Amino acid sequence: MSLLVKGGTIVTASDQYRGDVFVEGERITTIGTSLDLPADRVVDASGKYVLPGGIDVHTHLDMPFGGTTSADDFESGTIAAAHGGTTTVVDFAIQYKGQTLHHAWETWMKKAEGKAAIDYGFHMIVTELTDQVELEMDDLVRQGVTSFKLFMAYPGVFMLDDASIFRALLRTGKNGGTICMHAENGGVIDVLVKKALAEGKTAPKYHALTRPARAEAEATHRAIALAEIAGVPIYIVHLSAAEALEMVTEARDRGLPAYAETCPQYLFLSYDNYEEPGFAGAKYVMSPPLRPKETQDRLWRGLAFNDLQAISTDHCPFCMKEQKTLGEGDFSKIPNGAPGIETRMSLVFDGGVRGGRISLNRFVELTATSPAKIFGLFPRKGTIAPGSDADIVVFDPEKKTTLSVKTLHMKVDYNPYEGREVVGAADTVISRGRVIVDGGRFVGQAGAGAFLRRAART
Ligand code: URP
Ligand code: ZN
Ligand code: ZN
Repeated sequence: MSLLVKGGTIVTASDQYRGDVFVEGERITTIGTSLDLPADRVVDASGKYVLPGGIDVHTHLDMPFGGTTSADDFESGTIAAAHGGTTTVVDFAIQYKGQTLHHAWETWMKKAEGKAAIDYGFHMIVTELTDQVELEMDDLVRQGVTSFKLFMAYPGVFMLDDASIFRALLRTGKNGGTICMHAENGGVIDVLVKKALAEGKTAPKYHALTRPARAEAEATHRAIALAEIAGVPIYIVHLSAAEALEMVTEARDRGLPAYAETCPQYLFLSYDNYEEPGFAGAKYVMSPPLRPKETQDRLWRGLAFNDLQAISTDHCPFCMKEQKTLGEGDFSKIPNGAPGIETRMSLVFDGGVRGGRISLNRFVELTATSPAKIFGLFPRKGTIAPGSDADIVVFDPEKKTTLSVKTLHMKVDYNPYEGREVVGAADTVISRGRVIVDGGRFVGQAGAGAFLRRAART
């Protein structure tokens, strides 16, 4: 099959120009102006941007968590992602205590196989670090699972002690892996949660009030310090607090390879959402929590000035009905997480590019190129170039959409941005040379997504 994407404005992290993209099989082979090559299909991109497919390096599909399982599996989640202009996800496989990393990897491979409609990779969540697990880390890096998420929060569930964290960091110095850190001080938070509940403070807003920004900043600082001592890079996931961003900025100013992502929820929502009436605040229960509205500007500045390098979603949807309600009467039992896999590109384009906070090139860099580089997918993914996978989004910068649970495709019964109008949306989405969204309609196939073996750091 060949495909010609004609007449659009090609945008990468560094360039913006009118041109045509010719695709043969799964790859881009030629880029030029007024290409006159016979193609099985011509996609008219006039008046639209031709972007590299979005890369979301933080999703939780079909994930058991908080006594239930995230509402999107690899089929519904990746189809929703495709609608939103994302063509690659990197999800998380979980090693439960007493289990091997390989068992976790196989389990998550089975969850994705036959279901994923777009390409996918895995980070490995390590919850127990033994000598054997360290050896397994080496093997996983060789097999293309090249990053490991560690938790400084959720004591008794996911949290690792500093010694284990430090050992894992040292190991990545040898095997070329990357540590991704959930940076919140879990011990402090646990004490605050117990105190709040003992005082009868049970409403959803106490989830946020027991997870102070300083607990995120302290853990971020500690994570970076441990990585500095180990002499390796570190990537902080879902950074939400201005105080935590200061820690990353300070480290980067000293020349340390400290990287961090933030997520749309921290750019567009705020603590005020927890004050919505009744149990509605549960929609926004996630960790770290939403922060004061003023934080949003600080995060946008961090994105613009490269103190933050990526925008991922931390898509971890739980329905209000039967899932979030597990925590009615006890905020600590509300499953942590919110949906976002489908709305990332439109929200960031609208609020970021149209809002004048980041350039169009920076938008591409933050949503595709930079995550591809950090996580060993570049230049196969994350850019429009000859030889790269033909993961292409024809993006309509003028299309107005009102975000609503009624029209979005994520399998969850609410949307945190309900009623918000955004301008800019994916129109046609191409995954490895196949059109999978055509004029806003999904025409791809569950199971067509491939597992991506990612490269280690060199
Ligand atoms: O609340 C969140 N973030 N849920 C997903 C798990 C995690 O820590 O990323
Ligand atoms: Zn996390
Ligand atoms: Zn997460």
